[in-house]
Amino acid sequence: MSEQPHHPSAHPRAVKAVVPAAGLATRFLPATKAVPKELFPVVDKPVLEYIVGEAASAGLKDVLLITGKGKTSMVDHFDRRPDAEARLEAKGDLVRLAAVRRSEELADIYACRQHEPLGLGHAVGCAESHVGNQPFAVLLADEFTDEGDPLLSQMLDLQAQTGGIVLAFIEVPWEEVSRYGVASVEPTGTEDVVRVTGLVEKPARDEAPSNLIVVGRYVLPPTIFEAIRKTEPGAGGEIQLTDAMVRLMNEGTPVHGIIFRRIRHDTGQPLGYLQALVRLASQREDIGPELRAWLKEFVESELV
Ligand code: UTP
Repeated sequence: MSEQPHHPSAHPRAVKAVVPAAGLATRFLPATKAVPKELFPVVDKPVLEYIVGEAASAGLKDVLLITGKGKTSMVDHFDRRPDAEARLEAKGDLVRLAAVRRSEELADIYACRQHEPLGLGHAVGCAESHVGNQPFAVLLADEFTDEGDPLLSQMLDLQAQTGGIVLAFIEVPWEEVSRYGVASVEPTGTEDVVRVTGLVEKPARDEAPSNLIVVGRYVLPPTIFEAIRKTEPGAGGEIQLTDAMVRLMNEGTPVHGIIFRRIRHDTGQPLGYLQALVRLASQREDIGPELRAWLKEFVESELV
C-alpha cells in the first residue's frame, strides 16, 4: 500500500453516508430530554441539515440516519411539506420557499434504529445491511464544517486510493488531549496527510502520543462491520468504534488521517453550539450586519 497516496483511485469511492444520531446527548441536558440536539437550529436550519448538506456536497446522496428513542422527528425534517410550501408561495417568500425545497431534495434519507445507545461502534454496526459490501462515510451528527469545505471529499478520495480507514484530526492544546481519542502518526510526505500507527482513547496528558484528536468524520471499509461484531464493550461499557478500528489496523488495514486546520462547528455542547450560531448568523447577508453591530455594542457595554 502506498505511503503517499497520489495515484488514481484503486478502489470504488464511497457513495453512502451513515449519520449516527442515537446518543443520549447528556452534555446538552435538559434541552435534549425531548428534542434531539440534531434538530437544534443554527439560525434557521437544524444542525442535521448542515450535516446532510456536507455529505451531499461530497457526493454522498444516500444518507442513513441511525436514530433512537424519541428521535423520529429527525427523519420527519426531510419530508415534503406541501402545506408550508403553499403558504410561502402565497406570501411570495420565494427565498424561504427555495430553502424549504432544498432541505427536501438534498439527499435520499433512510433511517434505522439503534434500540439502545450501546456506543458509537454499535451504532455504526446497525448500518451493515444498508451499506452492504462497500466503503462508506460516517458523519457524527453534532459537528460540521463550513459549506464548501473540501475535507470530506478529500477523505473519500484518499480512502478510494488506500482502501483502508481514513480519519480526520485536529490539533488541540496538550492540556485537552485526555478528553479525546488521540492518534500516533507518521508523515506520508504529503502535507497534512499522515499514516496512523496507533489510536488511544482519552490518554493521560503525559502518555498521549500526539495532540492530534480524532474528529467526527470517518471513511471506513466494509470490513469494519465484522470488526465491530468482534469488539467487546470497552470504555464506559460501550462498543467503541475506536476499538474496532484498532482491530482492523492490527490486522493490516492501512489507516490514514487528514489534519484539518479550518473551521469546525461543534454543536454537541452549549458553548460550541453558541459559537456556531453566532459565527454563522454573523456571516448571513440578511441578519449578519445587524447582529455584528449589536454584538460589538454588547461586548463593549458595561452590562457584560
Ligand atoms: P457522543 O459520544 O458525543 O454522545 O456520540 P452523545 O450522546 O451525542 O452526547 P454526550 O457526550 O452524551 O453529550 C457521538 C455520536 O455518536 C452517536 C451520537 O448520537 C453522536 O452523534 N451515538 C453515540 C449513537 O448514535 N449511539 C450511541 O450509542 C452512542
